[in-house]
Amino acid sequence: MPAVGLGTFGSDHVSPASVAAAVEDAIRIGYRHIDCAAVYQNQKEVGEALGRATASGVARSELWITSKLWNDKHAEEDVIPACRQSLRELQLDYLDMYLIHWPFPNFHPPGCDVGSRSPDARPYVHEDFMKTWRQMEKLVALGLVRHIGTSNMTRPKLELLLRDADIKPPVTEMELHPHFQQQTLFEFVRSQNIEPVGFCPIGSPQRPERDRTPEDTSPIEDPAIAEIARRHGVHPAVICVKWAEQRGQTPIPFSTNPRNLHANLKSVTEDPLSPEEMATVAGLDRNCRLVKGQVFLWKENQTLEDLWDLDGQIVR
Ligand SMILES: NC(=O)c1ccc[n+]([C@@H]2O[C@H](COP(=O)([O-])OP(=O)(O)OC[C@H]3O[C@@H](n4cnc5c(N)ncnc54)[C@H](OP(=O)(O)O)[C@@H]3O)[C@@H](O)[C@H]2O)c1
Repeated sequence: MPAVGLGTFGSDHVSPASVAAAVEDAIRIGYRHIDCAAVYQNQKEVGEALGRATASGVARSELWITSKLWNDKHAEEDVIPACRQSLRELQLDYLDMYLIHWPFPNFHPPGCDVGSRSPDARPYVHEDFMKTWRQMEKLVALGLVRHIGTSNMTRPKLELLLRDADIKPPVTEMELHPHFQQQTLFEFVRSQNIEPVGFCPIGSPQRPERDRTPEDTSPIEDPAIAEIARRHGVHPAVICVKWAEQRGQTPIPFSTNPRNLHANLKSVTEDPLSPEEMATVAGLDRNCRLVKGQVFLWKENQTLEDLWDLDGQIVR
């Protein structure tokens, strides 16, 4: 899997056409890893961009394309058709990676308010998750996907999956940036030979309003990162991407700006951070989760701890 990917979530304000143009620019610049999802509602346009890229001579085998199963498609009979739909939209015969986007089957419409709750919302039920995973394993057997993985998982949930899966996930996607380092989960994941793919690597400065709270902090506004960036002559965002790759995760920064696309890609091959700079960034963690997942809560008066298993137990 290429060491840096391009995110494609338009954060509710970047049009599908602009995201598709960014995909095309990125591939022209040298990106080979694109992180897609059905819920981003732009796979058709991204697929057209991929089609143009392969028509211009980039071999399909050079590309690493990830997509994700949305929460309303966890039912056994829905997984394979949902994957086929993503393949059609992306104009592909196979995906390199297919992830279960969230461990909860709790559907909410894209763009809905964080206060909205599905009347059918349920907690994580491992037996149900395994039924979805068995269908994911079938996708590999069918040759429709090369690898299957997870996203937004916690250690207790991953431990159950690793115990029961025939195909263990080689990748898990998780929020990772200098202000949310998830060191304990990160170390656990790495110890299981699972590659952490880090989303919001720059702290998602343009994320939707609904994903903002007054307590949120921004790694690119951190004075220590700004100081390192000055030393390297780059934007603080580039330091975040550099740190991510050097730490041992695969960042998937989003950008529609060719200059930023280029800077982010180059950041992983040039001018590394010194051990002292790596140590400085390691000390900046603020435990600041930006993608909190409130819409997945399944009862009144719950806290986010119920979603993220913070005391090591899966909450039912
Ligand atoms: N699995 C999940 O549940 C999940 C959740 C959230 C996100 N994701 C994935 O992770 C991807 C990345 O997260 P994200 O899009 O939320 O945020 P992000 O990558 O942390 O931040 C993207 C923002 O940073 C800016 N930026 C990028 N490179 C820059 C540079 N070199 N200099 C200055 N600014 C720069 C971009 O603006 P410009 O366009 O102007 O460059 C854009 O506004 C998503 O697109 C999606 O694919 C997955």
